[in-house]
Amino acid sequence: MDFLPKQMQAVGILAAPPSPLIDMSLPVFAPQGWDILATVEAVAVNPADCRVRQRKADDGQAAVLGWDAAGTVAACGADAAAKFRPGDAVYYAGDVNRPGCNSAYQLVDARLAARRPANWSAAEAAALPLTGLTAWEALFERLGYAPDAPAEEQTLLVVGGAGGVGSIAIQLARLVPGLRVIATASRPESVGWCRQMGAHEVVDHSQPLRAQLQAIGVETVQSALLLNRPDEHFAALAELVAPFGRIVNIVPFSRPPEINLLMRKSASLSWTYMFTRSSFQTADMARQGEILASLAELAEAGRIRSTLRENIGELSAANFSAAHARLERGDTMGKLALSGFANRQEQI
Ligand SMILES: NC(=O)c1ccc[n+]([C@@H]2O[C@H](COP(=O)([O-])OP(=O)(O)OC[C@H]3O[C@@H](n4cnc5c(N)ncnc54)[C@H](OP(=O)(O)O)[C@@H]3O)[C@@H](O)[C@H]2O)c1
Repeated sequence: MDFLPKQMQAVGILAAPPSPLIDMSLPVFAPQGWDILATVEAVAVNPADCRVRQRKADDGQAAVLGWDAAGTVAACGADAAAKFRPGDAVYYAGDVNRPGCNSAYQLVDARLAARRPANWSAAEAAALPLTGLTAWEALFERLGYAPDAPAEEQTLLVVGGAGGVGSIAIQLARLVPGLRVIATASRPESVGWCRQMGAHEVVDHSQPLRAQLQAIGVETVQSALLLNRPDEHFAALAELVAPFGRIVNIVPFSRPPEINLLMRKSASLSWTYMFTRSSFQTADMARQGEILASLAELAEAGRIRSTLRENIGELSAANFSAAHARLERGDTMGKLALSGFANRQEQI
């Protein structure tokens, strides 16, 4: 892009709750260093957006939410030019400590981005980064599984299988030959969705898990992804996990878990927080761009399918408010996305 607009459309909040999301106009900044400036084409929503909205300080500063985007590179900082060129179609989650993607343009560190799947729509691509990175880091970095590396005689339990993270975690786990993947879901439609994502079996997280697993011949699981309501499920997972087994949690406990439950089994509890690399600018933060590139390859090879369930429409305060309300109900299956601004008239 030869010129950059001075102002852009955005959706954000100005004050603490219950201040609503509003349509606003914000300045556009040229990228420096490792940043690219992306033209945002589509975004997905995540429970993190609602949490950040609920914690907004009453400081009068505009806050733009959203950390899941697909767009096109409009301009590159000097370092980022080694990785991308204007016109590249990209996707990324970005950094929760910086302004989000609910805007027509966004600055994002090129090391956290990758070229998006060429065979997916912008909305489908936008639905992948945050949940895909979370599931990848949990399964392949914390639990030690790897695509195409057999894990015979092993069982993985995915608690919260129909949610955004669970939907892609089930698919990625199915890339591990021999790994038996059991998901949890509580409603007929979410059970069906988990099966579509590839779960071998589905049990109901609103009922005691152990008896249901025993009924399908599973006494213990070698690993578990705790993707929802850890306070409700941790004790049951501690009981189910095999000696030397591993539990990965992605949601904060609201009260301290009884960690001693794991001791006799030498089992472990670890965390995945997909913003750790960007928050601490870790030496390996470019790994997130590499993971997104691997996910794009899997998408293009038809080895994973999009988890997008619904495109709600254009990026507007009204549509984001509706999307947040749906996330806050806690029964979303797969992902919700939004794409395009109604009239993209930037002031040049
Ligand atoms: N640490 C990280 O990096 C990271 C990254 C992404 C997300 N997260 C967090 O992880 C959580 C899940 O994210 P998400 O995007 O997958 O959420 P989501 O899409 O909103 O999850 C919705 C799903 O939660 C399931 N669910 C509802 N009540 C449940 C319960 N009592 N036990 C187990 N599952 C239940 C529902 O299944 P049914 O309808 O079948 O009950 C529904 O399909 C959120 O708290 C999010 O903030 C953390």
